[in-house]
Amino acid sequence: MTTFVLFGGTGDLAKRKIIPALYSAFVNGRLDSEFKFIGAAREALTHEEFRQRVSDSVNQYAGKVIGGSAEKLAAFLACTDYAKIDARVPEDFAVLKSSLHTSASNATLFYLATGPDIFIPVVEQLSKHGLVKGNARVVVEKPLGRDAQSAKEINQSLRNYLDEHQIYRIDHYLGKEMVQNLLALRFANSFLEPLWNRKWIQDVQISISEQVGVESRGDFYDHTGALRDMVQNHLLQLVSIVAMEPPVNANPDAIRDEKVKVLRALRKFTNEEVSKKTVRGQYRAGAVDGKPVIGYQAEPGVPPASRTETFVAIRAEIDNWRWAGVPFYLRTGKRMASRSAEITINFKPIPYSIFGQSQGPMRSNRLVITLQPEESVQLFMKAKEPGEGIRLSDVALNLDFAEASNLRRVESYERLLLDAMHGDLTLFVRDDELNAAWSWIDPIMNAWQNDSEGLKSYIAGSWGPAAASYLLAQHGAAWGEEYVES
Ligand code: BG6
Repeated sequence: MTTFVLFGGTGDLAKRKIIPALYSAFVNGRLDSEFKFIGAAREALTHEEFRQRVSDSVNQYAGKVIGGSAEKLAAFLACTDYAKIDARVPEDFAVLKSSLHTSASNATLFYLATGPDIFIPVVEQLSKHGLVKGNARVVVEKPLGRDAQSAKEINQSLRNYLDEHQIYRIDHYLGKEMVQNLLALRFANSFLEPLWNRKWIQDVQISISEQVGVESRGDFYDHTGALRDMVQNHLLQLVSIVAMEPPVNANPDAIRDEKVKVLRALRKFTNEEVSKKTVRGQYRAGAVDGKPVIGYQAEPGVPPASRTETFVAIRAEIDNWRWAGVPFYLRTGKRMASRSAEITINFKPIPYSIFGQSQGPMRSNRLVITLQPEESVQLFMKAKEPGEGIRLSDVALNLDFAEASNLRRVESYERLLLDAMHGDLTLFVRDDELNAAWSWIDPIMNAWQNDSEGLKSYIAGSWGPAAASYLLAQHGAAWGEEYVES
């Protein structure tokens, strides 16, 4: 029997992501028959009132769940209860304990979808009430800390009450189908590995662009910024998977051992390098998809003179034998021209063209792994256009996953929740990974704090500040959308 206790059960993340994911797992028969869901938050709600919120969340955000129906929802709600819990009131945990069936055969998953300041008080109370023994696991949401020091303190405190194997640090990008496919692509095919290094690869680009702004999270976002919100976690996790050495097997620690080596090998920037190798921006009013949108400083919850970045581009380098000298260009931003998450491996150009210069500069081969909006892997090669003479054009060997398989797509939160329930840590972040990621981020953040001039602005609906293009152009490179195909 599995019991799922969701702290922050009335919050935004619960409503948009976690409850719909849980419902989808339920509809698809992935939860055991005695599954129980307890929402926990400070608000005084009856079970019925909470069930109504769960129902609203499913209706609003789980629209695409195949097989969902009013009957299924009623059955899901029948497994759902509510517990009013204030993290600082021990008696509340005693009440929670009385509603849990803690025994060796029962697994309890506590999901902390709250601010990080609540993590330790909650875990301390769970431990004091004997709730994190045996099969209990705890999922903690990002952001885990604000810098290396605070992340270390949180981790140390968590470890006072839990073993590392009980701690599931979630990064929902690791649950995306294509991220795992990247592991398959790299380590289940023979032809890529000989090319996957500095000898054949010119640069790697990882870009996550969003069209949304900060929505209802202005206050949170303004204290966080894009570097902490996206780069420290999602982008660096993608870097570690693209760049890691082959692990000895597919066990969680074998994979995480290799990922952490990459994060440790990321070259740390000096202050001077930060100004040359990073670009930060903030969006002004503009238009996204033809609709006018306000600027960041006018968003609710954001101070009018805010200097928080909503866009980041970085030229990173990995100091090891495989990658020395290969730039990893990282980019993410809100209110950009389109929503996409893409990893592009740009291979080196051919040494010499027998076809002459008449056809203009040729873009070299590239492998493009698209995580969203659609999932695909495309290998762009040069081929001859049909007809007289030789005219070259780009042709993609195209693995379109939506077309290639009609198996059900599992959304990232659902996959990660199920992994946590089954005790699979592969797609969760280990504490040493987190520390290594923060250690690389800290010097950037510190340099930015002391440089009041560095924040550029960009128009909402664009691809970010011009400086982000120059970051690549000065090295003869360009972001994917900047290429004009001849
Ligand atoms: C979250 C960030 O971790 O990821 C959000 O806090 C961001 O600001 C979101 O919008 C992006 O996730 P996805 O899966 O929509 O690309």
